[in-house]
Amino acid sequence: MILVTGATGGLGHETIDFLLTTTPAAEIAALVRDVSKASDLVQRGVDVRQADYFDYPALVQAFRGIEKVLLVSAVAFTDRAQQHRNVIDAAREAGVKHLFYTSIQRSSDFVLAQVTESDLATEAYLKASGLTYTILRNGYYFEGLGYLIGSEVPEAEIHAPAGEGRIAFIRRTELAAATAALLTSTGHDNQEYTLTGSEAYSFHDVARELSALSGRPIGYRSSEPAPYIAQKVAAGFPDFVATFFAQWCTAAQHGMLAGTDDTVERLLGRKPTSLREYLRATYFPGA
Ligand SMILES: NC(=O)c1ccc[n+]([C@@H]2O[C@H](COP(=O)([O-])OP(=O)(O)OC[C@H]3O[C@@H](n4cnc5c(N)ncnc54)[C@H](OP(=O)(O)O)[C@@H]3O)[C@@H](O)[C@H]2O)c1
Repeated sequence: MILVTGATGGLGHETIDFLLTTTPAAEIAALVRDVSKASDLVQRGVDVRQADYFDYPALVQAFRGIEKVLLVSAVAFTDRAQQHRNVIDAAREAGVKHLFYTSIQRSSDFVLAQVTESDLATEAYLKASGLTYTILRNGYYFEGLGYLIGSEVPEAEIHAPAGEGRIAFIRRTELAAATAALLTSTGHDNQEYTLTGSEAYSFHDVARELSALSGRPIGYRSSEPAPYIAQKVAAGFPDFVATFFAQWCTAAQHGMLAGTDDTVERLLGRKPTSLREYLRATYFPGA
């Protein structure tokens, strides 16, 4: 039986959607912290189990009878490493054989606070745990692009502290499809995969594609982090969130998110969504 954590979140829920296309519901379990948000999964016959990553006894109970766990990483600013250690320890105690962990892409040595540091700790802990592991280094979601460039785009030009940095964006649903394919096939014991789009794009590319789609010039100007953060705070984001957005841009500038890898393309059997396809569907639907 395969258990997916974070099953009421985006990636976890979409992974279960894909699993259900190839695997009987009776062989799929979902870990949620609020069962009332998982009624659609219950209706589809998925075995919904309740536990919080901070609740060790509940995790052990939830993992009983499970062979493979997909640990969807916890959200930033919440002591991710402790939560992940709890899940790994509980999985081992409950007799789980194989744990998949959703890490973040690392195509350079740049360490992104709140994300890469806890991923590094989790990966090391998992490798030392004795569990069979598979590490998925997920690329930056296309769905996160709007946070970086702001809702004023495409009406306004793009300002971001990303320099010439590039990002190998990937749609979250394509990550979910690739993850479901890995969970239901063999040959992934103690393997590490980087799951990205087939191309990496700079913010100049984003501006160029938006210009082509809108039929009017939209520029990109690389800014310093401080005015970018101030602009985000003025737009209503808390300071730590605005700073977090700036850090992602800095990560891009350092090449952390730029590496491309054909694993998703091979698993999907087609090219993942391109920048132009994503921008058209998101900003110019029907065009
Ligand atoms: N690669 C990227 O661009 C990118 C972007 C954003 C996030 N991420 C990372 O990838 C993960 C999955 O992304 P996503 O879009 O699916 O995020 P999401 O929609 O926020 O889902 C996160 C899931 O984790 C669950 N969760 C959080 N804390 C938990 C806890 N203490 N105990 C049990 N469950 C807990 C949430 O439960 P609830 O439904 O109850 O809230 C939710 O189901 C994120 O958590 C984050 O680590 C990656």
